[in-house]
Amino acid sequence: MSMEGSVKIPEDEAKRQFYYIEKCKEWLDNERLRLGRPLRMSVQTLGCQMNARDSEKITAILEQIGYESTDEKTADLVLYNTCTVRENANLKVYGRLGYLKKQKEKNPHMKIILCGCMMQEETVIEKLKKSYRFVDLIFGTHNIYKLAELLYTQINTETMTIDVWKEADKIVENLPSERKYSFKAGVNIMYGCNNFCSYCIVPYVRGRERSRKPQDILAEIRKLASEGVVEIMLLGQNVNSYGKGQEEAYPDFASLLEEVEKIEGIQRIRFMTSHPKDLSDQLIEVLKKSKKIGSHLHLPVQSGSTDVLAAMNRKYTKEQYLTLIRKIRGAVPDISLTTDIIVGFPGETESDFRETISVIEDVCFDGAYTFIYSKRTGTPAADRKEQIPEAVKKERFSVLLEVIQRVTRTAMEKRIGKTVTVLAEEINEKDDNLISCRLSGNAIVHCKGNPTLIGQFIEVKLTENKGFYYMGEIIP
Ligand code: SAH
Ligand code: SF4
Ligand code: F3S
Repeated sequence: MSMEGSVKIPEDEAKRQFYYIEKCKEWLDNERLRLGRPLRMSVQTLGCQMNARDSEKITAILEQIGYESTDEKTADLVLYNTCTVRENANLKVYGRLGYLKKQKEKNPHMKIILCGCMMQEETVIEKLKKSYRFVDLIFGTHNIYKLAELLYTQINTETMTIDVWKEADKIVENLPSERKYSFKAGVNIMYGCNNFCSYCIVPYVRGRERSRKPQDILAEIRKLASEGVVEIMLLGQNVNSYGKGQEEAYPDFASLLEEVEKIEGIQRIRFMTSHPKDLSDQLIEVLKKSKKIGSHLHLPVQSGSTDVLAAMNRKYTKEQYLTLIRKIRGAVPDISLTTDIIVGFPGETESDFRETISVIEDVCFDGAYTFIYSKRTGTPAADRKEQIPEAVKKERFSVLLEVIQRVTRTAMEKRIGKTVTVLAEEINEKDDNLISCRLSGNAIVHCKGNPTLIGQFIEVKLTENKGFYYMGEIIP
């Protein structure tokens, strides 16, 4: 390609991308002179923690190119990192694109970029190509590391540029990276998912499970610790199967955690998400012994009915889930347990639904994310004939919410009056006299405090239970 000139493009992938970052920077410097002002970007995450971490990587690349952050209204570049786990997520993107189209009419040099899980769907790409020609660049979940190269192509061709891969070709290490917080950070330990729960689109849009090398993970965490990070969150769709199916000898997840625990400076370790079918006795032992691992386990149950669980391809029964919960509580009595629940899965009967309610009451979860089943094209459950009518789904959902609220309030009440160690995370959005802090068990407590405490572990007495958060007082 002529735009690459006579300089040899590096073969090493990270070096190659730094080369394109420089190329984009040259372009941006000219634009800045032309416009007489800096260029600004707005990067927005619409998905889960995995997407949020990807957005940090994207932001870092764009910052290196020279973009400054701003809000959507004044941005020269708007990027949506999309989600497609439920249909609502997709509808939101189309809605926002309608608004962006008008913005771009006023401001024709504006760049609109879409990436993330929704872009991995062929039907979405077809629709964008047909009706959303004003989008400048589209890429998927497997080639985020190529952002600078793709942007450079778009700049030079000035046409809608699309690059979406079916599978990942490699894990590229040592690219620029950004963090939203200075004191806590997410660290990917694996990508993709092999579980194919029958309702879920994630395995199709995130590809097969791939674990990062333990030495790369540990080196990243050591570096974060040296930069002052005190809490890390290990990320993967199913962290309990870390290291499985690798050719070289990888540690299992429990052993990886033990290695992370040894890293000086890291004071608290979190991880998500755990799949009940792969939660090992070794992991429970490590949770029990550990001084740093947060006293929290997010263990999605999805349904309390063994029949529904089988149809969901979850590979455990109601009884196995409850036995696992007992085992975990036996080892770590005060652990916080949170979960995900879907209602209205195809074929779910009233009695199946009642079993879900009874499991929630039995376990008395500390928190739950609740979802109405959403049909995802290409997944096995979408083809099932026994789809539940909308009205029934909504009815069950409102019963579910009521039960969850009651149960989590009860679970939270146990900690009232206790003094706990929390990490002060941010100034409260609604009241800047308050700081918001996170318990080891993941719940939030708001208390009067000085913003200089942010980033530190402090002692707080929990004084009031607000249902899904606490109010508290700092113990000097
Ligand atoms: N890997 C994680 C979570 C992935 S998606 C895990 O296995 O637990 C997060 C949650 O979205 C899931 O736990 C599930 O409860 C919900 N979800 C996934 N697909 C869905 C669908 N088609 N409809 C409704 N909820 C869904
Ligand atoms: Fe989806 Fe199941 Fe994989 Fe979680 S484990 S991402 S719910 S397929
Ligand atoms: Fe996450 Fe949504 Fe993708 S939940 S993995 S951003 S489909």
